[in-house]
Amino acid sequence: MKKTLALLLAAVMMLALLTACGGGDKPADNAGDSQTGQSDTTTPPADAATPEEPAAGGTVGVCIYKFDDAFMTTYRNALEAILKEKGYEPIVVDGNNDQAKQNEQINTFITQGVDALIINPVMTSAADTIIATVKGAGIPTVLINREPTPEQMAAYDKLVYVGCDARQSGTMQGELILDTPNKGDINGDGKISYIMIQGDPENVDAQYRTEFSVKALEDAGMEVEQLNLTRGDWDREKGQTICANDLAQFGDKIEVVFCNNDDMAIGALQAIQSAGRKVNEDIYLVGVDALDAALNEVQAGNMTGTVLNDANGQAAGAVAEMEKLLGGATYSSGNQSVYVDYVKVTPENVGDFMK
Ligand code: BGC
Repeated sequence: MKKTLALLLAAVMMLALLTACGGGDKPADNAGDSQTGQSDTTTPPADAATPEEPAAGGTVGVCIYKFDDAFMTTYRNALEAILKEKGYEPIVVDGNNDQAKQNEQINTFITQGVDALIINPVMTSAADTIIATVKGAGIPTVLINREPTPEQMAAYDKLVYVGCDARQSGTMQGELILDTPNKGDINGDGKISYIMIQGDPENVDAQYRTEFSVKALEDAGMEVEQLNLTRGDWDREKGQTICANDLAQFGDKIEVVFCNNDDMAIGALQAIQSAGRKVNEDIYLVGVDALDAALNEVQAGNMTGTVLNDANGQAAGAVAEMEKLLGGATYSSGNQSVYVDYVKVTPENVGDFMK
């Protein structure tokens, strides 16, 4: 008798608890996927015993090629904030610039059953392997920052690339030089003598920026002379060392320092200042990204200009494309790249980009 009463009491309490949590009203429309409804009250849901309940939007595995990259840090923070704001649970991992490590991270995400992947490949040459892996697991995937070829992407229709067309940024860097009073020909010898500090040449951004910055000068009818081209792997310290060596070797002959990104340009600026040169007077310096540090230098007249590589816009685009994929969208071959525009940053408009 006592036992029956106790059971009855427990049942009543259970019912009261369920009603209070609204658990009884919850539609069972999430069947079939790994998502469960997220409680919008502070009362723990009826099944609070289940550890780590995923967010309403599902879990997203985010692979970054390396955390120790100035631009990708801004990008990663934006991506994480947008995903969280939209109710997803992002798990962000550092590839440490090691493709083998990133491959393992992708496999772990697949085993964990993430709902979608956002991948910044360590090496573009690994795209075939990455795409085959995510296709095998049937996981909707957005690639970012390092663009594979259309042929590589065509292998999987639940895959899309979100980034920028690097040709545009190169052209804008050339235009920044053409916009100076002497069009980059400081010593008036009829040609623009430059050094090129390149990012990781395996990355199409580095290839195109190198090519199209100079092409813009040539297309404008200018004669150009490349004094040196050195890979700086997107790295500030390397940018400084390379620029210091080139200044020691070529001295006043250098009229323009092209850097494939701002972090290397900030390094180059340190070398320029140590050598007693003055940007916009006896040497020009341009980068790409519009990092906060570079915006400050453009405003102070220590960089000729930079080009906005819109981390927030790309992060928002990546999440939007991911949501389309989660909604069942597929992409046809040759149509798998979504681009966000670059914007030229000059001393005149730099204020618009500063927070
Ligand atoms: C950025 C660089 C960054 C690289 C990483 C480029 O688009 O301009 O700053 O290091 O991406 O892949």
